[in-house]
Amino acid sequence: MPQIFHPRINGLTRILLVGGALALLAVACVAYFVDRSPYLTGQGAVPEQPVPFSHEHHVGGLGIDCRYCHTSVDRSTFAGLPDTYTCMSCHSQLWTNAQMLAPVRESLKQDRPLVWVRVHKLPDFVYFNHQAHVTRGIGCESCHGRVDRMPLMRQAKPMTMQWCLDCHRHPATALRPKDRITAMGYAPAGNGDALLHQYRIHTDRITECVICHR
Ligand code: HEC
Ligand code: HEC
Ligand code: HEC
Ligand code: HEC
Ligand code: HEC
Repeated sequence: MPQIFHPRINGLTRILLVGGALALLAVACVAYFVDRSPYLTGQGAVPEQPVPFSHEHHVGGLGIDCRYCHTSVDRSTFAGLPDTYTCMSCHSQLWTNAQMLAPVRESLKQDRPLVWVRVHKLPDFVYFNHQAHVTRGIGCESCHGRVDRMPLMRQAKPMTMQWCLDCHRHPATALRPKDRITAMGYAPAGNGDALLHQYRIHTDRITECVICHR
C-alpha cells in the first residue's frame, strides 16, 4: 500500500486524535455532572419572598390543608397561589400588628396582589398537570418533599426529565389512597398494584414523549 502521509505527520495526527477524544470525554463528563448538579436544577435554592411565609408553621404547626391556599391543585393544571384575602381570613384577627405581615396589610389597603417569587419552574417546552397527578394517587410529598418542615419554601426534588420518567415507569410504589394526597410523612401501605388498577394507570402511555412535550 502506498504511503499517503509522511510517517511523522501520521504520528502527530494520532496524538491530536487521541488528545481530542480525551478532551471531548472530559467535556462530556463535566457536562454530565454540572447538568445534574443542584445549582442547575434549582434544587434546594430559597428565593427571597415579599413575606417570609412559613409552611412549617401553617402546615406542620396549625395543620391547614394545602387546598385551603392552593385551591385549584385538584382541578386544574396549576396549583395556584393564595390571594391576600386568604391570608387576611386569619390575619385580620391574628398577629395584626406584626411587622412581618406589613406587606400583606399594605396589599389589602392598596388593592395590589402580593407578588410571590416562583420556586419551581419547568422549561416552557414541558407540559405539566397537577390535576392529572393528585387525582391519580400521587401525593404532594412525592414531588415537593416534607413541606410541613420547611420554614421557607424550597425545591426538594431535581425536577429533571430523568426524575419524571423514573416515576412514570414505576409509579406503583408512589401511589396513595385519595384521602391521603396532601398528607405529609405518609408511609406507603404496600398496596401499590391494587391502586394502579384502581386508578386505571397505563405506564406504557405515560412514558411517551408527547405526554410531556406536546
Ligand atoms: C396558609 C396558606 C398555605 C398553605 C396551607 C399551604 N401553602 Fe404552599 N404556599 C403558600 C404561599 C403563600 C406560597 C408562596 C410563598 C412561598 O413560596 O413560600 C406557597 C408556595 C408553595 C409552593 C412553591 C410554589 C412555587 O413557587 O413553586 C409549593 C410547592 C407549596 N406551596 C406546596 C404546598 C403544600 C404541599 C401544602 C400542603 C402540605 C401547602 N403548600 C400548604 C401558602 C400556603
Ligand atoms: C387559618 C389561619 C391562617 C391563615 C389562612 C394564614 N395564617 Fe399566618 N399565621 C396564623 C397563625 C395562628 C400564626 C401564628 C403561628 C405561631 O405563632 O406558631 C401565623 C403566623 C404567621 C406569620 C408570622 C411568622 C410565623 O410563621 O410564625 C406570618 C409571616 C404569616 N403567618 C403569614 C401568612 C400569610 C402570608 C398568609 C397567606 C398566604 C397566612 N399567614 C395565612 C394563621 C393563619
Ligand atoms: C408529580 C409531581 C407533582 C405533584 C404530585 C405535585 N406537584 Fe406541585 N408542582 C410540580 C411541578 C413540576 C411544578 C412546577 C410547574 C411548572 O413550572 O409549570 C409544581 C408547582 C407547584 C406550585 C406553584 C404554582 C403552580 O401551580 O405552578 C404549587 C403551589 C404547588 N406545585 C403545590 C402543590 C400541591 C399543594 C400539591 C399536592 C396537592 C402538589 N403541588 C403536587 C410537581 C408536582
Ligand atoms: C411520583 C410519580 C410521578 C412523578 C414524579 C411525575 N409523574 Fe407525571 N404522572 C404520574 C402518574 C401516576 C400519572 C397518571 C397516569 C395516568 O393517568 O394513567 C402521570 C401523568 C402525567 C401526565 C399526563 C396528563 C394527562 O394528560 O393525562 C403528564 C403530562 C405528566 N404526568 C407529566 C409529568 C412531568 C413533566 C413530571 C416531572 C416534572 C412528572 N409527570 C412527574 C406520576 C408521576
Ligand atoms: C414524564 C415527562 C417527560 C417525558 C415522557 C419526556 N420528557 Fe423530555 N423533558 C422533560 C422535562 C421535565 C424536561 C426538562 C428538564 C430536563 O431538562 O431534565 C425535559 C427535557 C427534554 C429535552 C431537553 C434536554 C435538555 O438538556 O435541555 C429534550 C431534547 C427532551 N426532553 C426530549 C424528550 C424525548 C425525545 C422524549 C421521549 C423519548 C421525552 N423527552 C420524554 C419531561 C419529559
